[in-house]
Amino acid sequence: MANNTYIGVDLGTSAVKLLLVEKTGKIVNSVSVPYPVNIPKPNFSEQDPTLWWSATKSGLKKLLSKVNKSSVKGISFSGQMHGLVMLDQHDQVIRPCILWNDGRSQKETDALNKNAKKLNALTGNIAFPGFTAPKIMWVKKHEPQNFKKIKKIMLPKDYILNQFTHRFVTDYSDAAGTLLLDVKNKKWSKEMLKIVGIKEKQLPKILESYDVVSKIQPSVARELGLSPNVMIVTGGADNAIAAIGTATTTHQACNISLGTSGTLLIALDAYHAGNTLPIHSFNHANGKYYLMGCILSAASAYSWWSNVSQGKVTDNVSLNLKNDIYFLPYLTGERCPYNDPNATGAFFNLKSNTTRFDMSLAVLEGVAFALRDCLEIARKMGIKINSTTICGGGAKSKIWPTIIANALNVDVKLINADEGPGLGAAILAMVANHEYKNINDATKHIVKISKVIKRDKKLLAYYQKKYQTYHKLYPLLQKI
Ligand code: XUL
Repeated sequence: MANNTYIGVDLGTSAVKLLLVEKTGKIVNSVSVPYPVNIPKPNFSEQDPTLWWSATKSGLKKLLSKVNKSSVKGISFSGQMHGLVMLDQHDQVIRPCILWNDGRSQKETDALNKNAKKLNALTGNIAFPGFTAPKIMWVKKHEPQNFKKIKKIMLPKDYILNQFTHRFVTDYSDAAGTLLLDVKNKKWSKEMLKIVGIKEKQLPKILESYDVVSKIQPSVARELGLSPNVMIVTGGADNAIAAIGTATTTHQACNISLGTSGTLLIALDAYHAGNTLPIHSFNHANGKYYLMGCILSAASAYSWWSNVSQGKVTDNVSLNLKNDIYFLPYLTGERCPYNDPNATGAFFNLKSNTTRFDMSLAVLEGVAFALRDCLEIARKMGIKINSTTICGGGAKSKIWPTIIANALNVDVKLINADEGPGLGAAILAMVANHEYKNINDATKHIVKISKVIKRDKKLLAYYQKKYQTYHKLYPLLQKI
């Protein structure tokens, strides 16, 4: 008899990534289906939700083409956060999804932050243009005809959940990123709904990430060749699910994700908000809480630089303690710590002998320093971090984890699978099907540390000094 298998669907910004995983954590197959981000105007960032669904289905068909489909017992999800998906009374998408890295709602964000203390008391957070609430306010003002049509507001992975189950549900980790949730008390904030101008019936019912939503819709099961008994499990926000996939679940455990965005997530046993500090206080996929700093360009900054250099930048870039080039990675504005959708990227200190390799190294260092800025906010709140796991495309680099270890002054743990979100989603499906007692029991068996990158005395001293200069550059640019 074939071993039971589980599917983790990671609905990312650049692609949907699908993993087929056995109970042991063995990855049987993986498939990635890319899709574009549309930028209709500077600072705008959109995707068509129906494309996500067709990419998910075509990816699943490929994933399952050479395996025993009857082994699949459950499917769960990890999704790009904060995106505003709106459906009308016929369950049709009203307009393209406004994504997490879209900066159009700065005015609405500023208006909300005028009363940042109250906002924090209601939601545990301050507003950022990437969050869902200011985007709804933007639609209300700029597209009143679309606003009137709204029957259902959902997050990206909830749209896919809805296609699989016809249920209108979300989970706490994704609900937290809307700025409509009372994070501490785990319920929609009536006051926030009033401020934004929507009704609770327009929002999904909230489940835990490890809850079973329902069995798969029979028509979808038929199309994919799956059993109609496959259970669909809620899943959650990609950063929370990546934290499950890297076993970042115990108090003050840390994970860094180097994807399109870069995030530094700290799991917490209890609610701890940053008051008006530019950090996120959200609900974890294990029923607890976490703090997170998010930078808008991480591995995407390196891809941008590779494109600009016409693919001539390779991973052969090596460490060089004499590199005095600096790079600010704010290519699509910046979330933490500056909350500035109009921030821009920059190289500093270029000279006639500067090489492409010096600039490549500066890009990797700039992203690490931006993550250090996030860590400093958590340190201000009394959080102590000595080590972190790392996942996402950037974790595969030979030198980036070393730079991060020394720039952030933490040891970096590499794990057996760098597919954090996909693996985390598959783990949730396993737990829902009682393969393991709970999430911690599952991660203990599945997630293994493959290598620890310790801080190095010389590199540490070098990067601590270089960071001090980096940190002064954005404020300097503001004076121009
Ligand atoms: C987190 C955030 C990003 C997206 C990327 O707040 O906006 O990390 O979740 O998918």
